[in-house]
Amino acid sequence: MSASRSILLIIGGGIAAYKCLELIRRLKDRGIASRCILTKAGAEFVTPLAVSSLAGERCFTELFSLTDEADIGHIALSRSTDLIVVAPATADLIAKMATGLANDLASTALLATDKRILIAPAMNPRMWQHPATRRNMAQLEKDGVLVVGPNAGAMAERGESGPGRMAEPPEIIAAIELALAGEVTPPQRAIGFLGRLPGASGANGALAGRHVLVTSGPTHEAIDPVRYIANRSSGKQGHAIAAAAAAAGARVTLVSGPVSLPDPDGVETIHVESAREMLATVEAALPADIAIFTAAVADWRAADAAPEKMKKDGGALPPLALVENPDILATIAQRRAGRPALVVGFAAETENVIAYAQAKLARKGCDLIVANDVGGTGVMGGDANTVHLVTRDKVESWPTLAKQEVADRLIAHLVQLAAPVGV
Ligand code: C5P
Repeated sequence: MSASRSILLIIGGGIAAYKCLELIRRLKDRGIASRCILTKAGAEFVTPLAVSSLAGERCFTELFSLTDEADIGHIALSRSTDLIVVAPATADLIAKMATGLANDLASTALLATDKRILIAPAMNPRMWQHPATRRNMAQLEKDGVLVVGPNAGAMAERGESGPGRMAEPPEIIAAIELALAGEVTPPQRAIGFLGRLPGASGANGALAGRHVLVTSGPTHEAIDPVRYIANRSSGKQGHAIAAAAAAAGARVTLVSGPVSLPDPDGVETIHVESAREMLATVEAALPADIAIFTAAVADWRAADAAPEKMKKDGGALPPLALVENPDILATIAQRRAGRPALVVGFAAETENVIAYAQAKLARKGCDLIVANDVGGTGVMGGDANTVHLVTRDKVESWPTLAKQEVADRLIAHLVQLAAPVGV
């Protein structure tokens, strides 16, 4: 293998096996070569040909293959690597690892290796929560095996949801990078990259040492001391993003408009009311490595907020003259000095979602727009969100997800985007 870093990827038999093809390709882009073992069950989901084509070398399947033994042998296979990664790690593979079974090539390599092992579990939520799997996972964590995921969400099986979805390739890559860099050392609890597993620690996270600034919620623009202009933003998405960034190890400043949510744990939360206060607070919180502008900032405010409560006088309606608020996202994205390395905006639209987001990306000068369709779907105030990630050259559309999962994935995505610029 020509790349300077390499992993031995063991692909188990689960529907998530298909994600390994993307994983291999993305790892290659980052200079990490994958040598692959495909279990018998894994080969029911992806073919050895697909795996070897992407990996750029033959994929190993049989323990008692004379060719394989003559080529390299299972002991050497398990040791001529920097890290073993098991993805998807099925309940079966986890049970074999926990008990030390060695009855096929994958389990034999796992037992014979002198290298560290990272697993990405993937299974049905009931299997994941079963006491047998709980026992096996506790054993593996005691043995120093590193773990990334699983995430909670909808399963391939219709109608099922809960913890058990394999971590996404960017999350697995972030965990691999951490493991290769020796930033997590055994005896080790789960990496719990996004802090979702018990025992996970933000100190190990991919954003450790970074400052992430997040805006969230609506703004209130006073008309008089008791009335204001507002919108339906609940702050759920922004608060979830701040929590996800903190779980990934970042120092997080959350600048929140008026919401009825608790301040997220481990996040410095500053409460503001108006767009102008929000901008001033954001500027004061700089410098930041990443800034994520989730707040639904009011576009306009009353030109002259009345100092006293306006009275009905039975005559003419009071005029309500409006002026434009400062655009916080554009102001920060277009800063010459002290611009965060990554500036992310949100775009709530009710039509032409992607086209408007692309125009907004250019107009505001940010690096990424997370576009969501708020047309009559209960997104504002609801718990789910359907988003498209729009950058200059790409649109990535995600399925409808819980806002916390959108937040987790967004942070994992930003870790990937941020790495090359040294964030
Ligand atoms: O222009 P529009 O309001 O659709 O843009 C949405 C994005 O811009 C969001 O990221 C929002 O937080 C940000 N924004 C801002 N200041 C404003 C208006 C929007 O930061 N005054």
